[in-house]
Formats: sequence, C-alpha cells, structure tokens
Amino acid sequence: MKYAYFGKLEELLFSILKEEVTYVEKHKYLSNIAYFCVIYKNTVIRRKMMTANEIRTAFLDFFASKQHHIVPSAPMVVKGDPTLMFTNAGMNQFKDIILGNAEAKYKRVADAQKCLRVSGKHNDLEEVGHDTYHHTMFEMLGNWSFGDYFKEEAITWAWEFLHEKLGIPADRLYATVFEGASDDGLERDQEAASIWERYLPQERILNGNKKDNFWEMGDTGPCGPCSEIHIDLRSDEERAEVSGRDLINRDHPQVVEIWNLVFMQYNRLANGSLSSLPHKVIDTGMGFERLCMAMQGKRSNYDTDVFQPIIQAIANLSGIPYGANEKSDVAMRVIADHVRTIAFAITDGQLPSNAKLVCDSPYIAPCCTLWIYVPGA
Ligand code: SER
Repeated sequence: MKYAYFGKLEELLFSILKEEVTYVEKHKYLSNIAYFCVIYKNTVIRRKMMTANEIRTAFLDFFASKQHHIVPSAPMVVKGDPTLMFTNAGMNQFKDIILGNAEAKYKRVADAQKCLRVSGKHNDLEEVGHDTYHHTMFEMLGNWSFGDYFKEEAITWAWEFLHEKLGIPADRLYATVFEGASDDGLERDQEAASIWERYLPQERILNGNKKDNFWEMGDTGPCGPCSEIHIDLRSDEERAEVSGRDLINRDHPQVVEIWNLVFMQYNRLANGSLSSLPHKVIDTGMGFERLCMAMQGKRSNYDTDVFQPIIQAIANLSGIPYGANEKSDVAMRVIADHVRTIAFAITDGQLPSNAKLVCDSPYIAPCCTLWIYVPGA
C-alpha cells in the first residue's frame, strides 16, 4: 500500500485494511498538498489538513523510526560559548562533537531547534515581514549523523520523508548540489548528484556555488558542501509559464528552499584553509515554518497556524484587518515575528534590558537590537 502522511491511527487502520485500500490521491493544488484522501471501497476518506504540531511530530517520528535519538531544542540564548550569542543553527549544540572535542552519546540524533538569525554570517533580519518566508526566530528540523551514515542515507531519507511520507508531489521538488570551488581545491559534489538522480530528473538537479552550497557556521569552524531541497508552490498555470528551475535561489516567495543537507567534512581554520574533521558528519536543517506553508497549502508562512493566532490578535488589538493593505501587512508580520522571538528569548534566559548586549564573538556583530515597526508610526 502506498499512502501519503496519515496519523498513527490511520496507519494502523490501513495496515490492517491494506488489501482493500485501492487508491490514494491528493486533492488538487493548492489543496493537493493540504488535504489527503484515500479511496477505500469506493468511499473517499478525507483527512483534515495537518497542523504545525502534527508536522513537527511527523518529522521526529520519522527519524525515530530510522533509529535516531530525539533530543530537545537547546536554548536559543547561548551560554558558555564566547563565539556565539544566539543559536543560529541546529548544529550549534553539537559543535564540540563535530569538531571531535567531545564523544557523541548517540550517533544518530534528530530535533526541532529554535534558531535566531539576526546578525553576523547568518542574518535574515532585513527580510523579515517584507517577504513572507524569513523570520528572526524559526524552528529548524534536523537530523544528524556523527560518524555514522553519510550522503546516501541523508538524501534517501529526506526524499522518503517529503515525498513518500508527507506526499509532496515529486514534480514540485528540486535539489541543488555544490558545483565545486577552485580556491578551496574542491570539485563538484558528483556523489550527491548521482544519488539525487535516482529520484529526480537531471533538469531538476542544479549546481550551486559556494555561497549557497557550501555551508559554514561562521568565519571558522565546521563546514562542508551541502545539497538544498527547494519546493515550487506556484499554481499549475504559473508553473507552465515559467519553469521552477529558473526561479531557484531567486527570492521568489513561492519557490523556496525548505531543507539543507550539509555534508560536514571540514573545519575552516583561522588562516582560511580547510582541515578534515575527525569524522564525517551529517547536519540537516529544514525550515519548519516553510514546511508548514507547503503542507497547509498556503502562500505565506504567516498564513499557517504557526502565525495566524498572533496575526489575528494583532488585527483585533489594532482594529486593522490583516490583508487590508501591503504596508500594514508588512508591519503586522514584523510584529508577529518579533513578539514570538522576544517571548522565546525571554523564556530561554535573555531578559530585556536597556543596556546593549555585548558579545566578543568574531561571528556576530557586537550588539543586537530587534526593531519593531508600529503601523502608522
Ligand atoms: N547547518 C545547516 C543550516 O543551518 C543545516 O542544518 O542550514
């Protein structure tokens, strides 16, 4: 039996009924990703749209089924690491393991990590609210291998989760692979490309440069080539007019990166050269809010159930409906994003203060301020 994502109860039901279930279909996009139905004895059984919580659980359950140990998110406020003020990637809490300075308790790990990208090498602050898919704080769904599996399993399982488990149509997915960089003496990632060729036609596997397809935590530290998965959420008409291939990494709000599979092999040293890591590491990070947009058939992260309760509260308080005009919409998205970030930062130990936050990090700017737009101000 082949089925898209269903909860545990449905999976149990279908495993009992497997001979009888004849056909699994998804409704047409935009609803085709959002709703799933199965035809059982000529009856359409329709399942409601997955909530954000169900999507997160589906990810963690999937990797638990692949023998990953599920760990909690580290606090977003980093204590005891002079190189980093806020967690900016899922791999931060595993840095010592990746560098070989600490033993891995588990060789396979998965989690949903709260990340903050407001300054330094990874800074999305200027995009927030103006576009519909960047945030100051976001959740990164990640799976890790510390010296265990490598590219083969990382790519295979990413495909299995997105396409087979969640039912995202194959023709909406693209993969990028590292094209190589002569200044670092690195060749194209042919291995990753060959694995992708099992799942995607060649025209949907694109080369990417060092900026997009070589992931580095900061100016120094663990790094390696990466393979990004992009999704095209446009309507069939739009897709027929312009190929998604031409919109990858072009800031199109409906053609976005959703998952980055990093093949950590190197440590960037202070002199700019690369040394090999003691063990090869898989570090993947999927944008949870973007996945929710895709799974819920929305055109904006802010239209998902992650943000709508906050947006609606702002609309009630301000008396301005969301969607009324672009200027107030931007402001409402910024406020929704920032209050969420600030709430999590406080609960993770960063108390608000009128003193600047000072950090001796070489990776991030010495002070960090979150500006809030007030509609009409
Ligand atoms: N470290 C990579 C990133 O932050 C993948 O998790 O994108």
